[in-house]
Amino acid sequence: MSAHQLILAIDTSCDDTAASVVKGTTVLSNVVASQTQLHKEYGGVFPTVAKLAHKEKIEATVHIALKRARVSPHDLDAVAVTQGPGLAPALEVGITYAKKSAEEWKKPLIPVNHIEGHLLSVLAHPKTKTVGAEPQFPILSVIVSGGHTQFVLVSSYGKYQVLGATLDDAAGECLDKIGRMLNLGYPAGPVIEEFAKLGNPTALKFPLPLTMVKNFDMSFSGLKTFVRNTLEKQTKPMTKPELYDFCASAQFAVFRHICYKLEKLLAVHHVAELWLGGGVAANMTLRKMLRNIARKNGMQFRVPYTKKLCADNAAMIGVTAKLTGKALKVEDFTSIERLPRMGL
Ligand code: KG4
Ligand code: ZN
Repeated sequence: MSAHQLILAIDTSCDDTAASVVKGTTVLSNVVASQTQLHKEYGGVFPTVAKLAHKEKIEATVHIALKRARVSPHDLDAVAVTQGPGLAPALEVGITYAKKSAEEWKKPLIPVNHIEGHLLSVLAHPKTKTVGAEPQFPILSVIVSGGHTQFVLVSSYGKYQVLGATLDDAAGECLDKIGRMLNLGYPAGPVIEEFAKLGNPTALKFPLPLTMVKNFDMSFSGLKTFVRNTLEKQTKPMTKPELYDFCASAQFAVFRHICYKLEKLLAVHHVAELWLGGGVAANMTLRKMLRNIARKNGMQFRVPYTKKLCADNAAMIGVTAKLTGKALKVEDFTSIERLPRMGL
């Protein structure tokens, strides 16, 4: 696909209805209708509620994305949509809408993997900046979100090898569950980050998981259990400073585990660049820890240019469609089905 092609991208993989217009890897608009408030009372995402909200919001979200980009449907070269992984009923809404629109506007449709979207989100750039330096392969991408935590070796665009992944909870999910036990609301990651700034990360001695295992897999469920056991032993409510120390220590334990495994991995696999993507990549402490590792290893470090590109969004889907996507004609649209467990 040429560098300047216009793509309308749609993502409804989880609890955000997202639409974006990209021109090559330039983001012209990036609209996200959040459902956070709807899911707050469940302390997590409720699939049928997500489906209904996507259905209600998708039309307006796409309309706003086109309007902000000053693009009419006829100007588009293609439509892109997240095929998976994600919640089946939620994915279905985006795919159905994308098929209908692409057919009506006579445009090809590009199915995209949501994890690949997080991975390539570091290459998106705003209108005000020119394209950054060409990526130097091989690259190690660290994807840390509410649904995934993995180390991916990128040998070229579209060629991925997962070298390590969480065996249980994702890092963001772990932070959310810890936050729930501390009554911090949902999602808790950003709140924990704010409280952690006021606390001491070494106040509590959390375990470092899987040090006896030589591979690069991770496990966060033990950290969650450590929190539960610690809270159960407490006889009186925490003071504010104690809560800040608790958050700083818990956050540090989660990130230290990722960094410990990452450093082991980089000792074996030599790469030119280190990338960080996914919702938790918005965290400044995690960025700092990874930037230090990159510097120590003489690697270039890349994160998305704005926090909006870390959380679920459709701009990353558009950029991925441009860089690695395969455009399908209307007669092949039926082959695009939701893939809730799609791997890289
Ligand atoms: O990528 P994302 O929006 O959705 C998934 O595909 O999972 O990631 C959401 C996750 C949540 O677990 C949320 O708590 C976490 O990212 N998160 C953060 C921060 N912002 C979002 N975790 C730590 N620090 C943050 N600033
Ligand atoms: Zn995501």
